[in-house]
Amino acid sequence: MSIADIIAIDGPAASGKSTVGELLAKRLGYLYFDTGVMYRAVTYAVLQNGISVSDEDAVATLAELIRIDVRPPSVDDQRMYDVYLDDKDVTWEIRKREVEANVSQISAYRGVRSAMTRQQREIGRRGRVVMVGRDIGTVVFPEAELKIYLDASVEERARRRTDELFMRGRTANYQDVLTEMRKRDQIDSTRAIAPLKPAEDAVVICSDGLSIQQVLERIEALARKLENA
Ligand code: CDP
Repeated sequence: MSIADIIAIDGPAASGKSTVGELLAKRLGYLYFDTGVMYRAVTYAVLQNGISVSDEDAVATLAELIRIDVRPPSVDDQRMYDVYLDDKDVTWEIRKREVEANVSQISAYRGVRSAMTRQQREIGRRGRVVMVGRDIGTVVFPEAELKIYLDASVEERARRRTDELFMRGRTANYQDVLTEMRKRDQIDSTRAIAPLKPAEDAVVICSDGLSIQQVLERIEALARKLENA
């Protein structure tokens, strides 16, 4: 009787996967691993180093060189974890608009994906992990015992992200957030390598009109069902 060792949660931006993933990991005593952080950290490093976002070779080389580390939170400022790029704390820098505007282009590069996927597999292989991203169930861990694809309408997601930004003290305009989210969805779901899509054996949950608690309970029930199978 073992509960799913790897739980994959994929889905588009602001579909609730990070919040639900973290709560689920806490309930199960699993590690929570948000792979989006890694793509954001690469993007931040590219911008910091003055590398052109469209220079695929230079971006891929940088992705191989940098060290990204995610550790338990050391500062009480609403963060879920510390994100380190080499020895610098970039937890909030990777949430900036400039990073968000470029992350999808950078995430589409083959060299970037292979570097990140390799590191994600190393961590996931240790087991007992809730891994959140875009391609966990399809590419990183197609053998995951439980795969969830969490979706919601783009309007609902843009509303959630706008609220989230306000709560963090940033001024955000709903229309701008919506436009940028549509753009990111489009790049993420049409790229040649590891596009955003549900795995064939994923359980698709649309969270429109559902509370975080309801989504959490649904996923936890699926995980527990595997435990008792
Ligand atoms: O929090 P949000 O859903 O807005 O974004 P995220 O999960 O932090 O992911 C940021 C970007 O990283 C996505 O738009 C994708 O371009 C990329 N990403 C990816 O390609 N593969 C993953 N497994 C995770 C993120």
